[in-house]
Amino acid sequence: AKEPVRVLVTGAAGQIGYALVPMIARGVMLGADQPVILHMLDIPPAAEALNGVKMELVDAAFPLLKGIVASTDAAEACKGVNVAVMVGGFPRKEGMERKDVMAKNVSIYKSQASALEQHAAPNCKVLVVANPANTNALILKEFAPSIPEKNISCLTRLDHNRALGQISERLSVQVSDVKNVIIWGNHSSSQYPDVNHATVKTPSGDKSVRELVADDAWLNGEFISTVQQRGAAIIKARKLSSALSAASSACDHIRDWVLGTPEGTWVSMGVYSDGSYNVPAGIIYSFPVTCKDGEWKIVQGLPIDDASRQKMDATAAELVEEKALAYSCLA
Ligand code: NAI
Repeated sequence: AKEPVRVLVTGAAGQIGYALVPMIARGVMLGADQPVILHMLDIPPAAEALNGVKMELVDAAFPLLKGIVASTDAAEACKGVNVAVMVGGFPRKEGMERKDVMAKNVSIYKSQASALEQHAAPNCKVLVVANPANTNALILKEFAPSIPEKNISCLTRLDHNRALGQISERLSVQVSDVKNVIIWGNHSSSQYPDVNHATVKTPSGDKSVRELVADDAWLNGEFISTVQQRGAAIIKARKLSSALSAASSACDHIRDWVLGTPEGTWVSMGVYSDGSYNVPAGIIYSFPVTCKDGEWKIVQGLPIDDASRQKMDATAAELVEEKALAYSCLA
């Protein structure tokens, strides 16, 4: 039998946490034959709710779930974890300045970086979900210098999956037959959902999405804005932000990272930029990646047209600015 993998979920008493922990315990993240031990962290005001989630996990009698650690102490929660999904954070409240929200999250991610660095298992893979996801991940990387930068990522897979969903709806094809969209840049409305390389599997072979949709105005306009604004549309409809889709996409992100992407398919992940595609180095930027043997690699050599270039640069500029804002909060 396989040894259990320890998976940390921070903010586990929150909305996404509530959707995510049963998925992990069911094997959605790491496979139906992989036992897991769930580590859940939240803050003291949420301790009672966190204990309620723990009770429900016990009550669900998940065969793969070999243990539960529920704690409000970061050191205890991080002990020996192999995968860390960072969902906990400080949400923007009405009337708050962007800088104030940034300051709160920078201080959270700085201290959790140290907790992970000191207590997580070697080679722990980290996924930051909490917003501002890219910049929280960057702060985590900067303050956990002993964690390899290739092990720190942020979630843009939800945006990627939203793009697949929009194409599938538009063409009335199975979403599983659509692949190779790209989310470039920030997990914010400046992101660039790019369909220029996306294809659909058809009985007569793979066809390009641009060819099949045959409506550039839609692809260059409404498609992009729908994906960029989807988070806001969900809040408007549900009065709560996306949770089940965020949780499911977080599972997709880790599963593909650990178990590999299918041949010929790439996914989007926020990773530390090495300057590929002339994106500034030193920011966490979403790129197309393939994964194998537990490592991601940026897909190289895709042709980039002028319109795409502009959008890729604009979202990079926003991330450079967020980085400066984050550093000004530390000073
Ligand atoms: P929520 O407010 O329901 O849950 C957040 C939880 O984090 C709360 O239980 C809170 O007590 C906890 N928390 C706060 N500070 C903490 C700390 N220092 N350590 C541990 N836990 C802490 O929020 P929800 O809806 O679950 O969303 C969580 C985050 O995910 C938000 O920042 C949201 O903006 C972000 N998000 C990101 C998406 C992405 O695609 N990257 C998609 C959807 C949401």
